[in-house]
Amino acid sequence: MVTLSEVEKAQADLSASYGDELPAGTTLANGQYTIDRYLNSGGFGITYLARDSLDRQVVLKECFPGAMCCRTDQTVRLRSRGQVQEFKTILALFEKEARALSELSHPYIVGVHQIFKDNGTAYMALDFVQGRDLAQVIEESPEKLDPDSVKDLLLKLLEAVGYIHERDILHRDISPDNILLDENGNPVLIDFGAARDGATKVSRVLSKVLTVKDGYSPQEFYLAGSKQEYASDLYALAATFYHIVSKRPPVSSHERLSAAARGAEDPMPPLEKIPGYDEHFIEAINRCLSIFPNDRLPSAAAWRDAIDIDRRRQMLLDQAEQDQLLVERVQRTVEEFRQMLAAEAAAQKAIEAGFDAKPEPAKSQAPQPAATKPKSERKPRPKSREADGKPPRRRRPHQGNGAGAKKRPTTENRAGNGSNGKAPNPKVQDATLVLQSHNASVASAKTIDRAEPAPRRQTPSKSSIGRIFAGTRSLFQGLGRARHE
Ligand SMILES: Nc1ncnc2c1ncn2[C@@H]1O[C@H](COP(=O)(O)OP(=O)(O)OP(=O)(O)O)[C@@H](O)[C@H]1O
Ligand SMILES: [Mg+2]
Repeated sequence: MVTLSEVEKAQADLSASYGDELPAGTTLANGQYTIDRYLNSGGFGITYLARDSLDRQVVLKECFPGAMCCRTDQTVRLRSRGQVQEFKTILALFEKEARALSELSHPYIVGVHQIFKDNGTAYMALDFVQGRDLAQVIEESPEKLDPDSVKDLLLKLLEAVGYIHERDILHRDISPDNILLDENGNPVLIDFGAARDGATKVSRVLSKVLTVKDGYSPQEFYLAGSKQEYASDLYALAATFYHIVSKRPPVSSHERLSAAARGAEDPMPPLEKIPGYDEHFIEAINRCLSIFPNDRLPSAAAWRDAIDIDRRRQMLLDQAEQDQLLVERVQRTVEEFRQMLAAEAAAQKAIEAGFDAKPEPAKSQAPQPAATKPKSERKPRPKSREADGKPPRRRRPHQGNGAGAKKRPTTENRAGNGSNGKAPNPKVQDATLVLQSHNASVASAKTIDRAEPAPRRQTPSKSSIGRIFAGTRSLFQGLGRARHE
């Protein structure tokens, strides 16, 4: 039994037909494709369901700008001879777009697997998507569009739109009838509109054919020559979701723009709180529905970041982790500087004490060679050169600050390393160690941004001072023996 809706559908199909479509059974591309049935006619093309040579279902899109073409038998002919050049340009635009789409590979964008010429025009073969378009779902089964499914749908479409924008492609015709929902409920974007837009620019006849879709196209698409940008696609996507969540079709952006110009109230009020949707979700749609592109979110990625709760939670967690690391690093830096200041103060104090103090008599350590031998055993002092009648040796002149100049004692050699022959002053030596430790802490403070904690500084311990004293003592004993010999 034929139902009423089937009759209505058949009538609708007939009314949509311009009579220019190819009949079922027509073969194309040397028999590679056979048309099953006509699907739809737009102002620029005709869509068919077909089978390929492996009997797989495909969709064929035929370049057929109805305002300038007609068909004789199968062949596409121009209504006027003067349109030959224009039609060539339109075919080139169609092919260019088909080629660009064939290079895309995304689960939510329809796949183009062949482009070919036949019947005096061009065709593209698309993957067939089993399912309904979103316009049908909104109309026929809105209960399927519950908040969770809608959020999931939007995130997937943002992924697809972000993907084409990254490749510098605009869709230009996002609307519920150009989004198919496959058997798993996943969206598939079809019917890119850039070639159509190009066609209206090259042909006076086609310039009258509407390339805008009221309610979904942003106002900049109504104005010839105005800039079309990524935010234009975002407006159309926002209008699509405005329709889904408010269950009201969006008002034409052209009307909204004139209201704004008059200072009148916006005929499309922003979305208010809607059960099942959080404020970020609603706010992002309202923002992308801004009349002026600069007021919209700048990219699909920005929109996704604004609404994806899991992603936002993860971003906040990552941020918190970063903050914690930062706090630890600051704490470490503060501690290092605190210790550095303490070390500096100690070093200063020790140096002052060292220079103020008289050198301690190094009774036990200092060598006393002359006192230990009786005078008779001592070697006779060599006679002076004058006593031998020789001229006195010339003294080496003072060499200023040159390479061989006698340098002022540095902190290190003042500390008594034995090389200047002075007795070591333990306080100064201690200060040197403290200064070395201070330098180490400055170095570690400079490397504070490394992941590992800065190495612990060495403060001079009692045992290390003892070891240094012992070393110095043996050095002086050695020197004493040498002098004695
Ligand atoms: N890949 C596909 N899989 C299944 N059905 C499709 C596919 N592509 C298109 N259709 C069906 O054909 C209809 C018309 O296709 P499409 O949107 O590409 O062209 P159009 O809007 O009629 O024409 P125009 O390109 O001139 O605007 C769609 O609404 C959809 O129902
Ligand atoms: Mg379409």
